[in-house]
Amino acid sequence: MAVPALTIALVAGSLQSPVYAQDAAQDGPLQHGVVPRVQTYDTNQQLVTATHGMVATAQHLATQVGVNVLKQGGNAIDAAVAVGYALAVVDPCCGNIGGDGFMTIHLADGRNLFESFRIKAPLKATPTMMQDSAGEVVKGRSTTTFYGVGVPGTVMGLNEALEKYGTMTRQQAMAPAIKLARDGYKLLPDDVRLLDTSTKYFAEFPNVAAIFLNHGQPWKAGEVLKQTALARTLELIAKDGTSAFYDGPIAAAIVKESDANHGLLTLKDFQDYTVQWGEPVECEYHGYTIVTAAPPSSALTMCQTMQIIEPYPLAKWGYLSAQSVHYFIEAERRAFADRNTYLGDPAFVRNPVDKLLSSEHAAKLRASIQADRATPSSEVKGSLGEFESTNTTHYSIVDGKGNAVAVTYTLDGFFGVKQMAGDTGFFLNNDMDNFTSKPGVPNQFGLVQGKANQIEPGKRPLSSMSPTIVLKDGKLVMVTGSPGGSTIISTTMESVLNVIEYGMNVKEAINAPRIHMQWYPDEIFAEPGAFTADLEKTLITMGYKIRPVGHLGDVAAIVVNPKTGKLESVNDPRYPAGLSAGY
Ligand code: DON
Repeated sequence: MAVPALTIALVAGSLQSPVYAQDAAQDGPLQHGVVPRVQTYDTNQQLVTATHGMVATAQHLATQVGVNVLKQGGNAIDAAVAVGYALAVVDPCCGNIGGDGFMTIHLADGRNLFESFRIKAPLKATPTMMQDSAGEVVKGRSTTTFYGVGVPGTVMGLNEALEKYGTMTRQQAMAPAIKLARDGYKLLPDDVRLLDTSTKYFAEFPNVAAIFLNHGQPWKAGEVLKQTALARTLELIAKDGTSAFYDGPIAAAIVKESDANHGLLTLKDFQDYTVQWGEPVECEYHGYTIVTAAPPSSALTMCQTMQIIEPYPLAKWGYLSAQSVHYFIEAERRAFADRNTYLGDPAFVRNPVDKLLSSEHAAKLRASIQADRATPSSEVKGSLGEFESTNTTHYSIVDGKGNAVAVTYTLDGFFGVKQMAGDTGFFLNNDMDNFTSKPGVPNQFGLVQGKANQIEPGKRPLSSMSPTIVLKDGKLVMVTGSPGGSTIISTTMESVLNVIEYGMNVKEAINAPRIHMQWYPDEIFAEPGAFTADLEKTLITMGYKIRPVGHLGDVAAIVVNPKTGKLESVNDPRYPAGLSAGY
């Protein structure tokens, strides 16, 4: 179906972190129906078609790295690892070796795999560490100080994926990233736009300013950014492997910096770190299998929402019609209430995954939706009753051998905590903010979460990262995912629904305006152009509050065209630095 012509808009005031919904969430009081000041850009981006392989990432040089690996005979896992390291250089806001992420894999032999390389809280962490002595959450503690830094997982995550399922050596996979760091890369205007979001923070830390400012001034388009410290760190990892990071000079440098900044990290935290391999979460929707991240990701909220809406004739009602919006938002409201109440690190809490994804549970929640009115979030609670428990980037890769990989990885905020350890040359995450700092108090994404996700020593925080693969009868249909904090779940799910429910091609699916609801705040987040004036009036009459936001997410998706069997992809115009390319 055709999607109405659309102007994607960026809130001028939200350049601090352009892909974040929370900027809008912090914009102040709701202004119903007021479209924020916007800067428009082109949605006539090129649809890319390929037969042998396709790579979609948030930075064009990283995409080229992935395509080269595939052309040289590497598989999708080789390419995912090479791209992961390359993005750590050329997309420094979000690509990382100081953060964490998830990898969802569909292998050519039919197996579906899931790797979690989520951060761990330091062993000295406590449930109240983000609060003052009066029990109030200290603003900024979880996002701007070393209390925000968890033990990074990316290096072990990428290296283990390569060892288990790749075909290249670590040195081969890391060589392009090392070259980009050592020789530098020419900054394009969109690269500079990302750096400019954080100039004032770079100036605060001399070791950061030495790299990300040019003699104290912001880098300009056309100039070449070299990262020699990062090149040395990457060379060390290429030579000595994972232990260089977790049991060697890099861990030592991070602990030293943490000590100097009143942080809690110790060498033991690094030595104890492990990644986890397991089954992805899988659910069915109209004959399609959705394969996505398992806890500590909350991607199952996508499955839960889709199971609630599955019986409704959404395609017949139409994309962004009053009924489709109503039932989608009510399903999300209920699924997010469950997410925020029950989910946490499976090593610490018993996640009621089977219960939440059962058809009985979906039916019960569906029955609680009223046909003509919004249910206030205050009337929706975690639906299992008391249940006692004993800035990010996404990339998608498909090779010509039948393997597909979806990776979402993160520093949490743009450039994470915006600090580096000594001369390591990479940013550290502030993913500790993804925990519940205090039950009932919203985090930076406005998520109001409970005890299941409270901070505990060695625990991993609940994440919204949802790297997703869609199959039909075991055959690849789509690889997708997005950054965007709590809105990742909606953005990823809408990219899937747009293709498998509304019959859009990949370009229409990505360009289409997005909406989001996360229980609290009790508002529909809506991109410009999502609702016509009439639809907005109808929704407000039904009891909805609408929060206009600049934009939601940055989908990197690859879709197999059902007619031609060819791979198709397109860069999300909300994030023009990215590129989809194949051959
Ligand atoms: O794991 C999570 O849910 C967050 N750390 C994701 C942060 C994010 O997407 C920020 N990106 N734009």
